[in-house]
Amino acid sequence: MHDDEMSARGPVPGEDDYEGDWEGVPEGDDPLSVVAHGGEREVETALRPRKLAEFVGQPRVREQLHLVLESARKRGVPPDHVLLSGPPGLGKTSMAMIIAAELDTAIRITSGPALEKAGDLAAMLSNLTEGDVLFIDEIHRIARPAEEMLYLAMEDFRVDVVVGKGPGATSIPLEIAPFTLVGATTRSGALTGPLRDRFGFTGQMEFYSAPELEQVLRRSASLLGIELEDKGRSEIARRSRGTPRIANRLLRRVRDYAEVRADGRATLEVVRAALEVYDVDELGLDRLDRAVLGALVRSFGGGPVGVSTLAVAVGEEPATVEEVCEPYLVRAGMLARTPRGRVATPAAWEHLGLQAPADSVGVDGAVPSLFD
Ligand SMILES: Nc1ncnc2c1ncn2[C@@H]1O[C@H](COP(=O)(O)OP(=O)(O)OP(=O)(O)O)[C@@H](O)[C@H]1O
Ligand SMILES: [Mg+2]
Repeated sequence: MHDDEMSARGPVPGEDDYEGDWEGVPEGDDPLSVVAHGGEREVETALRPRKLAEFVGQPRVREQLHLVLESARKRGVPPDHVLLSGPPGLGKTSMAMIIAAELDTAIRITSGPALEKAGDLAAMLSNLTEGDVLFIDEIHRIARPAEEMLYLAMEDFRVDVVVGKGPGATSIPLEIAPFTLVGATTRSGALTGPLRDRFGFTGQMEFYSAPELEQVLRRSASLLGIELEDKGRSEIARRSRGTPRIANRLLRRVRDYAEVRADGRATLEVVRAALEVYDVDELGLDRLDRAVLGALVRSFGGGPVGVSTLAVAVGEEPATVEEVCEPYLVRAGMLARTPRGRVATPAAWEHLGLQAPADSVGVDGAVPSLFD
């Protein structure tokens, strides 16, 4: 997208230290990690859909957003502020860029952790021109003073800049150009009420179905010039954890394998063999997912156990287990979040090759199965 546009108006405070990665998650090269790897951003940029019509899946969010944008365009005003929430790799950043592209405006990018001081945000806001999109990634991690400044900016397109210290300090109101804030978060629950209330529209991104991921893969394969056969494509889609980022990454690993060990074509056999090498299991669970399930089942008898205890058992931050790992395990019907703690479902026991105890959750079919 408009890389040149982004910096067209000179350096922006906070933008330099912008770090797209989800902090707290190690930047390994695990092919299944939902978090973008260090060198992966360029490829991701190349594969990002540019327009709403190109964006696969998320029909609800897409339709709602289309209405929000279209009506704003008709009225000739910047659309309401938009919050995008959902697990990593489902297309929040892509969608933010699409919003700017659809509006044909510039996008300014920063992130919650980069906005430590209210001044960082004030400088960013005063740099905006009318109609710009300001994208704040990981908005739940914004520092308190910046957040409070944002309230006023979102509501009245104004900020109060405090000049000086102590009794002589004065607050100078500063007009800012009407803009649209697009916030992205993996934890909408961590947003404060006042901040959440100031967004006119919240798009909740869901995991993708296998057919949707096949569409993503079809597009990526053609962009990357990879010969991907139909059956190979559905196999990758099935093992991508409902996440386009993972689908694209597995596709690239499959391409490597196809080029080195085969004739370059990604057939079903090639895909299976490649995924075997990269230790991607039948359901696409990654090492952390399997570690969490393993600990839950083996060390805690299937639960219930608190998320922090579980996180300690697998040597991870509770936030990582909760935001990166659990959403998919819940979606896949392997793990249930109950008021008393996390519980393994019979599907989890089965997946680990173990016999579930007779009284485990979901035996009566209460827990949804994979891709219901
Ligand atoms: N709907 C989609 N159609 C096609 N490709 C997609 C779609 N959603 C995501 N992708 C691909 O997945 C990659 C990751 O998406 P993106 O960076 O937008 O996710 P994210 O939700 O912002 O993740 P994070 O929470 O880690 O920031 C993109 O590079 C893009 O290629
Ligand atoms: Mg992102």
